[in-house]
Amino acid sequence: MTTVYLNGAFVPKERATISVEDRGFIFGDGIYEVVRVIDGRIFEWGAHAARLARGLAGIRIAFEPAAIDMLKVVCERLVNENDLAEGEAIVYMQVSRGAAPRTHHFPPVGTAPTVYAVASRFVVPRADRESGVKAITFPDFRWLRCDLKTVNLLGAVLARQAATEAGAYEAILLRDGVVTEGAATNAFVVVDGDIRTHPLGNLILPGVSRQVVVDLMHENGIALVEKPVSQAELLRASEIFLCGTTTDVTAVVALDGAPVGSGAPGPVTKRLQPLLEARLYAAVGAAR
Ligand SMILES: Cc1ncc(COP(=O)(O)O)c(C=O)c1O
Repeated sequence: MTTVYLNGAFVPKERATISVEDRGFIFGDGIYEVVRVIDGRIFEWGAHAARLARGLAGIRIAFEPAAIDMLKVVCERLVNENDLAEGEAIVYMQVSRGAAPRTHHFPPVGTAPTVYAVASRFVVPRADRESGVKAITFPDFRWLRCDLKTVNLLGAVLARQAATEAGAYEAILLRDGVVTEGAATNAFVVVDGDIRTHPLGNLILPGVSRQVVVDLMHENGIALVEKPVSQAELLRASEIFLCGTTTDVTAVVALDGAPVGSGAPGPVTKRLQPLLEARLYAAVGAAR
């Protein structure tokens, strides 16, 4: 039996119900986060909490800093209550603008946000990390606030479905002729000897893993150019890799059916993977 958190209570998942008028359901009007938990320790909580707070402020859902701090306690309790305190887990949490009769404009002042969180086991896909994955290119027709992690994910849903139908793991999104990011990952491209990724801004999610990877590169003297990659550059890349909370650093070894570089994970990916693993597993002290 899975215990979830809903609006202040820890309840069996089957008994966790929300209103049909919830604005998360009606409008996709909410913000979410996904954190990685290793042996009961939340990876990069501070960065996830800051992004959640920024996202909520960005869509004008009033949420006290203390409520964000409380979510950390909620995550930890969910991990413990669901027997996930050992090994790998993820916690999904979302805050919607609450339930009220449908109006596009905000509900009456005082409408409480709906707060939901669930923990689940995470199985690291070792084969994908080692052998790399396939990706497709797909148009980025998402809205212009991709920096906000909103629960309205239709652009990503349709992109990932196209990838799935093509037998691929990820869709690399192209807007105005340049790579923005993956449908649910940030993308790095090695082209003409430079390691490149799209700069932060409104067109990409500021990935927590992206920041960890950028920091690791700085710390290890690996040069990075934060400059958009054109479609032509993507197609002649010697190496492409993705990063994300559940993707870690994973090579893209085939793009739209053609091999990337040698068709195997490249040297930059292979250098960064153990650096990220060391960071992920630092507190538990075990290399896996
Ligand atoms: C669009 C998008 N980009 C990047 C990421 C990676 O972000 P993070 O490293 O914080 O998981 C995600 C994660 O879900 C995402 O949805």
